[in-house]
Amino acid sequence: MEYSEKVQQHFLNPRNVGEIPNADGIGEVGNPQCGDIMKIYLKIDNDVITDVKFKTFGCGAAIASSSMATELIKGKTVEEAWHLTNKAVAEALDGLPAVKMHCSVLAEEAIHKAINDYRVKKGLEPWEDKFSQ
Ligand code: FES
Ligand code: FES
Repeated sequence: MEYSEKVQQHFLNPRNVGEIPNADGIGEVGNPQCGDIMKIYLKIDNDVITDVKFKTFGCGAAIASSSMATELIKGKTVEEAWHLTNKAVAEALDGLPAVKMHCSVLAEEAIHKAINDYRVKKGLEPWEDKFSQ
């Protein structure tokens, strides 16, 4: 199995690892296929994601895709972040091996949960996604 240079870089030197105290939205998800866990913290000002941190107990592909996903949503609006797909994250990493694509779903799902956590705290309806069916 071959990992791209970018996957290796983000695995060896992940960006935005940690927690945000008093985060505006927190999302935690588990991967049913392997038991791995990811937690994402969002700081949001005027609907813009001003800071994001993550913690992943998972494989290299999960860590690399969390790291890339946090880079991609920082500075974006909540709605833009909602539309970030795991495919886009994998593409930004110059691809993931097919058997590792499911690992990148963790980040997309955790971001959605964190955004809905933020929305519910604000008294808004949570958005529907494919994970809530
Ligand atoms: Fe282990 Fe996906 S099966 S991280
Ligand atoms: Fe579990 Fe990759 S094997 S997230």
